[in-house]
Amino acid sequence: MRTVFWENNELKMIDQRILPGRFEVLAYRGHKEVANAITDMVVRGAPAIGAAAAFGLALAGYESASFSSSSLLADLQTASATLKAARPTAVNLAWAVDRVMAVASSVSAQRSADEIRQLVLDEAQKLADEDVEINKRMAEHGAALINDGDTIIHHCNTGALATVDWGTALGVIRTAHEQGKKIHVFVDETRPRLQGARLTAWELEQYGIPYEIISDNTAGYFLKAGKVQKCFVGSDRTAANGDVANKIGTYMLALAAFDNGVPFYPVVPTSTIDLSLAHGDLIPIEERNPQEVLGLEFEGQRVAPKNAKARNIAFDVTPNRLVTGIVTENGVAYPPFEASLRKLVNNNP
Ligand code: MRU
Repeated sequence: MRTVFWENNELKMIDQRILPGRFEVLAYRGHKEVANAITDMVVRGAPAIGAAAAFGLALAGYESASFSSSSLLADLQTASATLKAARPTAVNLAWAVDRVMAVASSVSAQRSADEIRQLVLDEAQKLADEDVEINKRMAEHGAALINDGDTIIHHCNTGALATVDWGTALGVIRTAHEQGKKIHVFVDETRPRLQGARLTAWELEQYGIPYEIISDNTAGYFLKAGKVQKCFVGSDRTAANGDVANKIGTYMLALAAFDNGVPFYPVVPTSTIDLSLAHGDLIPIEERNPQEVLGLEFEGQRVAPKNAKARNIAFDVTPNRLVTGIVTENGVAYPPFEASLRKLVNNNP
């Protein structure tokens, strides 16, 4: 089953907030509810939220009562702004919405409102189908970097749940496993929302890939002890110079990997590469509700004192000097990334 899919005129999404305890698929009929689902992290992971927003735009088309193509286009534009505002860091969100809007805008003078509604849905479906195919291509390039017997550290969740299907960094690990390579995965639990301990572990369990969950602050221990051969992570936005924004904690992992000479590979579809940003300091970083940090319980009790305050930064930026190579669907980019990434984005390896 896909993480995000269209069925019976509804957008359906696996509710990632309650996994692995419960498996539920929620149905959406309105774009505002989809935007809320992205903010609340019913759906999460850069490619998955891109696909959800694209289908959200299709819902906006059907919600609009407009008869003329020009007023439908205006309604779609308003919905685009709502969807794009749902989360700031993953560029796939704006990329997907802009891609679907471009189709609607380019034909609006010649087509009826109903034809445009259908074209918007078709484009969203195409984008979702392509995501699966792109992940599988990326996985082949990335799996070639994995040797039989490797132990890999993985951060956050980058699997089928973070995409439409298959996954980015976890997709690489899954493909290497299917190729018969024996791999062991150290799963960073990924505070505060525990995407690693909840979602990545749940996925690895189903793929039959051996793993152990480690607290985020354990990665340095195993890297220094020589127990890890590679790190694979995802990205929410990668700048033109190869600076990589990803789930908070990725930077510390990259530092420890670099210090111990362990290769560090972000796995990044070209839709996540933002060539308009020269470097990673320009990437907008989401700060979420402190409650996600403060609400943590230990042995049934809230950890923090009653009046404690917290900061909840959702992403950090790993500078390109710590990055060994960036795996894309068009091949692996190596430093200097300014040139190599641009070539791969333009599919000119
Ligand atoms: O806050 P999340 O869970 O949406 O963060 C997800 C990540 O950081 C992933 O590593 C990233 O989206 C890329 S993997 C598809």
